Amino acid sequence: MNYINKCLFPAAGYGTRFLPATKAMPKEMLPILTKPLIQYGVEEALSAGCQTMAIVTGRGKRSIEDHFDISYELEHQIKGTDKEFLLNEVRSLITQCTFSYTRQNEMKGLGHAILTGETLIGNEPFAVILADDLCANIGGDSVLAQMVKLYAKHKCSIVAIEEVPMSEVDKYGVIAGEMISQDVYRVSTMIEKPSASEAPSNLAVIGRYILTPDIFDILRVTPPGKKGEIQITDALMEQAKNGRVIAYKFQGKRYDCGSIDGFVEATNAFFAAKSSK
Ligand code: G1P
Repeated sequence: MNYINKCLFPAAGYGTRFLPATKAMPKEMLPILTKPLIQYGVEEALSAGCQTMAIVTGRGKRSIEDHFDISYELEHQIKGTDKEFLLNEVRSLITQCTFSYTRQNEMKGLGHAILTGETLIGNEPFAVILADDLCANIGGDSVLAQMVKLYAKHKCSIVAIEEVPMSEVDKYGVIAGEMISQDVYRVSTMIEKPSASEAPSNLAVIGRYILTPDIFDILRVTPPGKKGEIQITDALMEQAKNGRVIAYKFQGKRYDCGSIDGFVEATNAFFAAKSSK
């Protein structure tokens, strides 16, 4: 049985760190080699059994919708040429998945973006992928597929975590909890972007979540937190108070493609992997 059928992609952010590249182009469309970041995310969601992609967009994001649609002119142009195969992967996603969109018209934080997606999700548990955290599998299942398996056992919200240097905890949601099995913690505390002295550990949340739908009611009453924004970390902390959040140290390698360093690192790693094939 597949419990998680829908994956939400918050994709309304401005991507200011990549200006001028993101002046007229969504940051989710920046490519690692030839594939846009959001396409890697959709492939990961599909690998985890999600067939409905719920994308929260904003102004200037139309090219995401066009990307996951058939371009008849282009198909006609390259039909029968040696370029035709280049569209195979995205064409296969279009046939296997349904894409739905809604717009976030105010930038009030990740929690607000997720609440905006409620209309596309409804009353069922769902996944969230932040496309600028690009996760490469090492061998086995994708990170989201690993989390979906864990959901079948625990039936509560799950966040993916990794250890980061203490000097970087202020870029992340940070958790503390009790280890209940290898790589799995029951979360007792979560703090959004703490200073090194406030941080309860160096276990940082990265952009993969499974959320139970009661999160929407919690988000509706979550006051603005860090940076004056509605934080998913604060809403998850409410669930954690009832022991309803698991943190999972995933297998795989995550690249922070929201930063130039991480983006270049991912590009180099993916290029090296491709060249060695
Ligand atoms: C968001 C979340 C943060 C999380 C991070 C993962 O922050 O608010 O808790 O650790 O994503 O990438 P952002 O990177 O959008 O500032």
